[in-house]
Amino acid sequence: MTSGAAVRVEPAGSPAYEVRIGPGIAAAFADEIAGLPGIQQGRLFAVIDTGIPPAWVDTVLDACAAEGFDVTRFTIDPSEKNKSIETFRAVLCAMADAGIERREPVLALGGGIVGDIAGFAAASYRRGVPVIQCPTTLLAAVDASVGGKTGVNLSLPDGSLLKNMAGAFHQPAAVLADVSALVSLDERTFRAGLAECVKHGMIAADWSDAGLLEWTRESMDRILARQPGVLVDLIARNVAVKARVVAADEREQSDTGGRALLNLGHTYAHAIETIDGLAPDGGPLLHGEAVALGLVAAAECSRSMGRLGASDVLVVRGVVEQCGLPSKISGLPDDATLLDRMMHDKKTSGGRLRLTLLRGLGRAELVSDPPAEAIAAGWSAIRA
Ligand code: GLY
Repeated sequence: MTSGAAVRVEPAGSPAYEVRIGPGIAAAFADEIAGLPGIQQGRLFAVIDTGIPPAWVDTVLDACAAEGFDVTRFTIDPSEKNKSIETFRAVLCAMADAGIERREPVLALGGGIVGDIAGFAAASYRRGVPVIQCPTTLLAAVDASVGGKTGVNLSLPDGSLLKNMAGAFHQPAAVLADVSALVSLDERTFRAGLAECVKHGMIAADWSDAGLLEWTRESMDRILARQPGVLVDLIARNVAVKARVVAADEREQSDTGGRALLNLGHTYAHAIETIDGLAPDGGPLLHGEAVALGLVAAAECSRSMGRLGASDVLVVRGVVEQCGLPSKISGLPDDATLLDRMMHDKKTSGGRLRLTLLRGLGRAELVSDPPAEAIAAGWSAIRA
């Protein structure tokens, strides 16, 4: 039987919590929920992603009911459009209708979208109730569920959609990464989650895991076969890197990097991920697919500034391709349009572009106003 793992997250300004990882961990943890700090037994409000198998949801929630929780269910169809103020309001209303009190928890069962909405509702309802995150995608397990970022998109009257523009930092009381939930993920979604693992590997030398990228490359066959034991190790090592970054800079306030280093590849990615027609199915890229391209672009931008060797860029491209993720794409707009889109990313500061770049494989830092030619070299590297 595959054993599990636990990683402790210790944010400076919030109570510490554990990320438990293993097959069946979400149901197995039910008897510990009432013992978590700030939680009392009573009602439990479950926010459920429609994309996850009902049988898995029933197993988890039946275990909670067996521990004496009175469970209310609320389902969300996860899409960027539904990650809205309207859905947030509907969750809050349902929580009020269920009579949820201040020490009664929200349980978020799903991918990053559901976790972000449920977390934001938990942060706001009665000025804050506990949330337990149960990520069911690889991306949510290694990234979105850990670190307390919650929120929804803002849709402006002119029709533009500002991603994650309204939200709060609200650290979970626990994270339960159940690797059995990952088995049923469709192949494209599973592979997209690997992009955040590659990203962690590309910065991990500065965060006490210099071997992470190499281990990911060597373990790729077993990862893609979704062997439970290797998934536990993959999630645990990635969460440990993220936990160290979050402990150093819980609210992304550091001027020298900290949590902003987790945006490696993301400024490039955000410039292309909402463009329709880039994916083979004629729709937009998944976030992880855009991040994979962004990682190659950021590596090449770093090389073009003399910060990274050409062989390291090849390593990055190689691991992205090993994951089955795109490292080149056709149909991108011209450089000027892409640069303009990068400037409008919410990570820009005072109208200046700050990019997370590499200063060697495994080491990232923030660079203000990188030269336009270096940024363009990044875009060239991913044009098919
Ligand atoms: N996903 C980046 C962060 O949590 O800061």
